[in-house]
Amino acid sequence: MIGLSPIIDKQSDIPVYKQLYTYIRQEIEAGALRENERLPSIRQLSAHLVLSKNTVETAYQQLHAEGYVESKPRSGMHVVPIERIELTTAAMQMSDKETKPLQNPDLNNQPLFDFQYGDVDLDSFPLKIWKKCLVDALQHDSYEIFGYGDPQGNGELREQLVKYVYQSRGVVCSSSQVFLCSGTQQAISLLCQLLPLSQRVAMEEPGYDGVRTVLANHGRDIQPIPLETDGIEVNSLRQQSVKAVYVTPSHQFPLGSVLSAQKRSKLLQWAYEVEGLIIEDDYDSEFRYQGQPIPALKAMDIGDRVIYLGTFSKSFLPAVRMSYLVLPEQMAISFRKALAPYSQSVSPLLQKAMLLFMREGHYERHIRKMRKLYQTRHRALLKAIQQHMGHRVEVIGQKAGLHMLLDVRNHDNRDLIKLALQHGVKVYSPNHHWMNPSHVPSSYVMLGFGGMNDKKVEEGVLRLKKAWFSE
Ligand SMILES: Cc1ncc(COP(=O)(O)O)c(C=O)c1O
Repeated sequence: MIGLSPIIDKQSDIPVYKQLYTYIRQEIEAGALRENERLPSIRQLSAHLVLSKNTVETAYQQLHAEGYVESKPRSGMHVVPIERIELTTAAMQMSDKETKPLQNPDLNNQPLFDFQYGDVDLDSFPLKIWKKCLVDALQHDSYEIFGYGDPQGNGELREQLVKYVYQSRGVVCSSSQVFLCSGTQQAISLLCQLLPLSQRVAMEEPGYDGVRTVLANHGRDIQPIPLETDGIEVNSLRQQSVKAVYVTPSHQFPLGSVLSAQKRSKLLQWAYEVEGLIIEDDYDSEFRYQGQPIPALKAMDIGDRVIYLGTFSKSFLPAVRMSYLVLPEQMAISFRKALAPYSQSVSPLLQKAMLLFMREGHYERHIRKMRKLYQTRHRALLKAIQQHMGHRVEVIGQKAGLHMLLDVRNHDNRDLIKLALQHGVKVYSPNHHWMNPSHVPSSYVMLGFGGMNDKKVEEGVLRLKKAWFSE
């Protein structure tokens, strides 16, 4: 039967007829249902989707009322030619404006399949437990919760982090070396303000634009260093007169490579020789799907030259705005002094809740659960790409994390993004992560899958195939 296969969520607050109506409307707008095409009868569609006839009829009535379909005698509902739809919807929007309060225009045009990088799976978030931790934190109605708190961060939470980074990343440190921050960018900002961080800072090319912007805004000159398949070109770094480098060794952002063991030693060697600093951003190391877990670079740092950055944004929630720095011992002493006039930027209440969440073992359980879930989703995405796009695309960086890049050969990503959107799918350009515009491979698109519903992965890929290869 006709290719109408909406994903209907009967548990959703959105009425089923509305979900069906929205799906058909978007199919018409995307051109997947062509003008004059006949919609299945109410009876056929209700049997096909196992929905009541009333539900289908109400969806059809809504589409009819809005001018998307018209009824033809003895042959049922047909899609109205697109120019007429544009006219009717424009007219309806005008009359809506006159009669209704303003609505957020984006809400009505949200793509059905959004491969946004940075989103995490909210359906599996342990909301009940987190709420309980927040409420329990509030029971401690002391100055500890309601005041500014320790500028370095809650001491007990830092103790938890000491255990965590040791057990999961092999990093040995004490809580006096740990500093709570409200995200990676704020951590970098503090490093620029409070450390004698050199004027020139090297970064992987491509590298995380979020960090590069902060470094640049603090007046640092950035030296891009090319990448090889196993990470940053250390030889090229050696040729520069820099004393600090920002790297993502466990999962290079955005290309996804892993810094090889040999390169790790070479990079540390460089830092020891020039008495430089390595800023290690370990943003998503919890999610690794192939091979052995790789210890952090910091775990090998016998010469105390690595600053380690961890974040809760991928492993917990971006909204909690919580990350941490682990500084070399001596540096931590001067950093703490310099930090004294600053107030801690993470709410003491949230810190206490996170302490309870970690202390009760919820954090580790959550990570274990999410690792499995993301692994399944990651596998489903790769399988769908291989099955439906085959050799026409190359997947880049597929061993870890919550995103991957696709090289859609011989295509320009501006066109790819536009075409995808016309089919209800949002994919993203990674171009801004390259510092030198002439290095940008314009056929790359970025797909984040953390916030993507499992059931939508394959359908999303099928739509991309339709959009990009007209099949
Ligand atoms: C390379 C990299 N580092 C760190 C982060 C996390 O940043 P934050 O801790 O500010 O949420 C991200 C998130 O997108 C990232 O891509």
